[in-house]
Amino acid sequence: MRNRFYITTPLYYVNASPHIGHSYTNISCDCLGRYMRRRLGDANVWFLTGTDEHGQKIQKAAQDAGFEPGQFADKMVLQFKRLWKDLNISFNDFIRTTEKRHILTVQRVLEILHEKGDIYPAKYEGFYCTPCETFWTKTQIYPDAPDNEKRGSENCPDCKRHLEYISETNFFFKLSLYQDWLISYIKDNPVFIRPKIRQHEVLSFLEMQKLSDLCISRPRQRLTWGIPLPFSQDHVCYVWFDALINYISAVGSFDQNNNYNSQWWPADLHLIGKDILRQHAIYWPIMLRALNIALPKTVFAHGWWMVDESKMSKSRGNVVSALEMAEKYGIDTYRYFLLRNVPFGLDGNFSEESIINRFNSDLANDLGNLVYRVLTMIEKYFAGRIPACAAAEYNPSAQAIKAYLEALDGEISAVFTADGDYNFSLALEKIWLLINMANKYIEDTKPWILFKENKIEELRAFIGLLIEVIKKVSDSLWPFMPQTAESITEQIGKEKITKGLPLFPRIQ
Ligand code: ME8
Ligand code: MG
Repeated sequence: MRNRFYITTPLYYVNASPHIGHSYTNISCDCLGRYMRRRLGDANVWFLTGTDEHGQKIQKAAQDAGFEPGQFADKMVLQFKRLWKDLNISFNDFIRTTEKRHILTVQRVLEILHEKGDIYPAKYEGFYCTPCETFWTKTQIYPDAPDNEKRGSENCPDCKRHLEYISETNFFFKLSLYQDWLISYIKDNPVFIRPKIRQHEVLSFLEMQKLSDLCISRPRQRLTWGIPLPFSQDHVCYVWFDALINYISAVGSFDQNNNYNSQWWPADLHLIGKDILRQHAIYWPIMLRALNIALPKTVFAHGWWMVDESKMSKSRGNVVSALEMAEKYGIDTYRYFLLRNVPFGLDGNFSEESIINRFNSDLANDLGNLVYRVLTMIEKYFAGRIPACAAAEYNPSAQAIKAYLEALDGEISAVFTADGDYNFSLALEKIWLLINMANKYIEDTKPWILFKENKIEELRAFIGLLIEVIKKVSDSLWPFMPQTAESITEQIGKEKITKGLPLFPRIQ
């Protein structure tokens, strides 16, 4: 493992308010970022997030709201910043695609690729989906129809909304030139696209058809809200081509010889949802290759959150606000639920009922109880003073706990770093195994009897081990539930405990 770690989230569109889906990606990234900071030191981790502010979708949303696009973006970006603050997202940098540092880099990229001949003008005819900002060729819409046939009411294969048919001169980026190279790159670098199922998906897509070149411009008559192409006054840059470049524009720059320099690049991980895999696993690596820039180590596409088994959408009116959920159930409960309930990479179903179930069983019963019971015993048996851990003879269950305490870090690190699969829920299960061992140890030991029989040395060893357990739990939990970990540390961090209220009082 190199001793630096650069992770990114997608840049979210500012056309609508953030919801649980957006928060999922940022919470996962935050968890990983915190974990890596613990391992590598704060100075060696860079966590980038931000907003994607150009394009037709934003222009239209601004218009509908009665604002200029720039003003509208300024207003919407505050919602994202506020949510990340409220959810304890510890990003190092927040990039907006309307910032100068980004615009200059995008224009530089355009110039370099244009000069090189990888960007060329041509007439474009085909379908366009405004909500997805995506082009569809006729063959993608009608696999069997003759090429020159055009029909009436086509819908987007992705979002099912109405497609426009357009015909105009545009600039294209030579994706097709790099197709064979990309196929071998993906095959030679099995950690490049994760999880495996997404890697297969991209490979079979690439092997099934010839890539068309990517249309990277929009005529100004149709779209004004975009980065101007340095070599054509009549066009602005396609929003996806613009947005992907953020990952390098935020952390470095090009020198006079067109070499890109950065202390952070290449990124270790672009964490995204599976909806934007094609852009990150096909367009982006080819753009980088054409620029002679190293590729990110891993693009990980996580699964999709549904609500009551259906897709969240404005029109269905079932969009769940992350802020509301975090306020209602607590930030750490919300973070825990998202990271624990679904194995990373798979889809999940969101419901308040499942949050409550997780809360009552894992947080109130298991974790909350363990901490509360141990603190109560320390109050009762040792007048609130944490006994020094006596090196007593451990019984078999104590020995098993001791052994697992020592093994836990390794088990968790295997989860976080093994081939980049980031199985957060598995890491949490491993922590909970320790919590449950400790709870069972309390029930089996029956400390109240030890106390009655005045077996103080045994009691001391017993509590000493439990305190070790709680310290380890709190340390291991910090990336997932930072506030909870800090509150536990506060309660047991000193010689004399400061017992608070139960961490997670049951929800009825
Ligand atoms: O695509 N479940 O922005 P976007 C899980 N601007 N994750 C979800 C989700 C859900 N239901 N809904 C959204 C864009 N996400 C572009 C990205 S990157 C250079 C440009 C998360 O606002 C998930 O991470 O539509 C998904 O990939 C992202 O939000 C899409 O956000
Ligand atoms: Mg989207």
